[in-house]
Amino acid sequence: MKRVKYVIANWKMNGNLASLSLVRHINNHLRKNEVKSPKVIICPPFTLLGTFAAVKSMNLTFGAQNIHKLDHGAYTGEISSSMVKDVKAKYVIIGHSERRSYQNEDVNELREKILIALNQKLKVIFCIGETHDQIKKRKSILQNQLKSLPKNFSHKNIIVAYEPVWAIGTGLTPTISEIDKIHSNIRNMLTKYVGKNSDKISILYGGSVNSKNASEILYLKNVDGALVGGASLNAREFCKIIDS
Ligand code: 13P
Repeated sequence: MKRVKYVIANWKMNGNLASLSLVRHINNHLRKNEVKSPKVIICPPFTLLGTFAAVKSMNLTFGAQNIHKLDHGAYTGEISSSMVKDVKAKYVIIGHSERRSYQNEDVNELREKILIALNQKLKVIFCIGETHDQIKKRKSILQNQLKSLPKNFSHKNIIVAYEPVWAIGTGLTPTISEIDKIHSNIRNMLTKYVGKNSDKISILYGGSVNSKNASEILYLKNVDGALVGGASLNAREFCKIIDS
């Protein structure tokens, strides 16, 4: 089964207007090398999203790191999916572990966010992953997190990103064979949960991906790309990951 491959940058709370030079660097790299696959997506902070999304590009798209579960209203400081859509961003990250833990986002709230994003025709990058304490019960943790996904959605509109919380920003990763096995387990869970077409859903790995470990991880049959944090803030490093 051929699935769409992605390399996605999650800039988290980093970057400013001067970071446009990073975007141009990446864009030039993609153009010069005529990169058609993987699809490359940058998710900067909201303040930069509109500026970045206006950059003309063949193979670079942009996404938000979060949205509110409602479309508009008296929610000071929040941003809705229609606002993200309005600035021509195409994707949104939902369920990142940093939001699950610092903002207490739970299965139900995440389901509402996914639904409103899909409603606005944004594609969802849905993150799941266990903490270090949860490693032994990883399967049930991931199974439960997947319950935020609606039952009937087009596989084209959802990307699943497996990010073990203990691997984020730590330099640690599961072993290559563990990543392969966990991704295959997630695929089986998706098949049980959403059935038809689940084999077309791309499953990405995230957590301490860098230019040194990327090719080993990305060559795995069950890995359809990477969600990259720290290493995506360095244009040359990020381009090396894309080339992997
Ligand atoms: P790092 O690549 O910095 O570990 O972050 C991963 C991540 O959280 C991407 O969403």
